[in-house]
Amino acid sequence: MSQIPREFIQLLLARTELVNLITNRVQLRKKSNNNYFACCPFHTEKSASFSVSQPKQFYHCFGCGAHGNAIDFLMQYDRLSFPEAIEALAKLTGMEIPHESKVSAKPAISVDMYALLANIAKYYQTELRNSEHAIGYLKKRAITGSVARDFCIGYAPHSWDHLLHTFGKTPALKQQLLATGMLIKKEDGGHYDRFRDRIMFPIHDCRGRVIGFGGRILEKGEPKYLNSPETPLFQKGHELYGLYQALQANRQMKRVLIVEGYMDVIALFQHEITYAVATLGTATSAHHLQLLFRYTSEIIFCFDGDQAGRTAAWRALLVALPLVRDDIQIRFMFLPEGEDPDTLVRKEGKLNFEYRIQNALSLSSFFFQAVSAQSDLSNMDGRARFISMAKKHLDQLPAGILQKMMFEELAKKAHIDAAQLTKPQRIASYRNPAPKARAPSSLRLALTLLVQEPQLADSINEAMPAVALEMPGIELLIELIENIKHYVFPNTGALLEHWRDRKEKKLLEKLAHAEHMVPETGIKNEFLGAITQLKKLIRNQQIKQLLEKAGRGELSSEEKQLLHELIHTKEYP
Ligand code: GTP
Ligand code: MN
Repeated sequence: MSQIPREFIQLLLARTELVNLITNRVQLRKKSNNNYFACCPFHTEKSASFSVSQPKQFYHCFGCGAHGNAIDFLMQYDRLSFPEAIEALAKLTGMEIPHESKVSAKPAISVDMYALLANIAKYYQTELRNSEHAIGYLKKRAITGSVARDFCIGYAPHSWDHLLHTFGKTPALKQQLLATGMLIKKEDGGHYDRFRDRIMFPIHDCRGRVIGFGGRILEKGEPKYLNSPETPLFQKGHELYGLYQALQANRQMKRVLIVEGYMDVIALFQHEITYAVATLGTATSAHHLQLLFRYTSEIIFCFDGDQAGRTAAWRALLVALPLVRDDIQIRFMFLPEGEDPDTLVRKEGKLNFEYRIQNALSLSSFFFQAVSAQSDLSNMDGRARFISMAKKHLDQLPAGILQKMMFEELAKKAHIDAAQLTKPQRIASYRNPAPKARAPSSLRLALTLLVQEPQLADSINEAMPAVALEMPGIELLIELIENIKHYVFPNTGALLEHWRDRKEKKLLEKLAHAEHMVPETGIKNEFLGAITQLKKLIRNQQIKQLLEKAGRGELSSEEKQLLHELIHTKEYP
């Protein structure tokens, strides 16, 4: 896949002015020192808790916790994907995106691969027209010619090598067929068609390009559905069947329905419910939901009414919780036992089915139903269990009105005061401080100052000693210093960009807007003081480790030398 070089992204951020970018969408008011305020565009509120820092090139909402740099803002506000946000910024700054091709063992995606799959889809469609047997199956399932065309439904002939012979005429073509998952390699080095004697459902990405296939067996047999394997073009956790058709059929989507199967999407579409999508034999991922929230503000999960369906719904709810902002809705609908959307919409028609959609459970109703079902609310122990379980999950919600309302609902159900829901926990954690090694306050201060003012890294002359330490966070500090010295991040937003796909990003974002109380003029001194303090701590820890080892008689001669030096050198300057 062609990748946007990191250096370019950094250049783009350096040329973008976050304050201007946001001002064009949200009215900002100047507070002080290049800090701006507004009512948060990401949740409903009356007082302004959304702040934008010009020097940091970073925004943060104290109400709902939304935050990020210019790229994040476009992703959140304009609902763009990462590459789309880059594209938009490039356009604004008049820069051209250079694409570097990934040089790796993985087969690269080429335009040819998309063209190949598009041609294969056409070939399967032609094969369908020539097969009485396949047409008969679709008729039996009451699929009309029109919807079969909308979804480009086809048929893979009953043969081990028909596709191979039609499309794999040269070794290079064979290699491409293999890379797209259409062929399977035999042990003796030969190849054969993956899909044989199956109804073929091409899977499109949201731009309408064919990226894979699902194939259904016509008679009874195993597996009932066969999907393309994951390939560079096709990642199941990212794609949704039917999304392209839904986007084509609807200029705007008020809601999207997530169902389980290909046939469900198609039957619903045929009955003019054109906003259903299906995951591809996997559970719904956060990625799926984020993709959908670019196009709609309401998602309705549709599940079987049996226990398996309820369990799957609960799992989907847990995935969804951290994503439920105040301006979006997630609901759950359960079908009568033994039915799926395909059978049901054919039986009772569009209006009745839409009536069910309208009556889908809200996220909070389903949540409390599910949590109550797992605890006995008639006694105190049961209620305590109920509270702790519910609270654990509700903490996952983004801070906002929904979270507040759900906590109030929880309090009501458990017959306690809402204010009590947060206090006891806090007191408990004061009484039993975590026994684990804690980050020293000097480390926290150094990290905070460095994230907020990356230039500080240049004031460190001597590298931090990189030794194995029991000090959570020290590796991050060392990495930050090295990276800032190497890449020269001009501000917080640019620095965070570098950590976009890393697990440490959350912590860095928190530090980016942490209140450190150091006055502007004292920042450099405080920072260097914290670094010196840390170096001392590191030295003491190192000495302690070596002495322990010495006590066990395990010290090598180099270690003896090192211990000697550590003890006898004066403290770090
Ligand atoms: P029909 O029987 O054709 O109506 O399909 P269905 O969608 O009702 O089938 P089912 O509820 O069994 O499966 C739902 C979805 O799970 C399918 O659309 C597939 O995506 C997936 N699936 C079902 N069976 C298999 C299988 O054997 N293998 C794989 N990989 N996926 C399957
Ligand atoms: Mn079915």
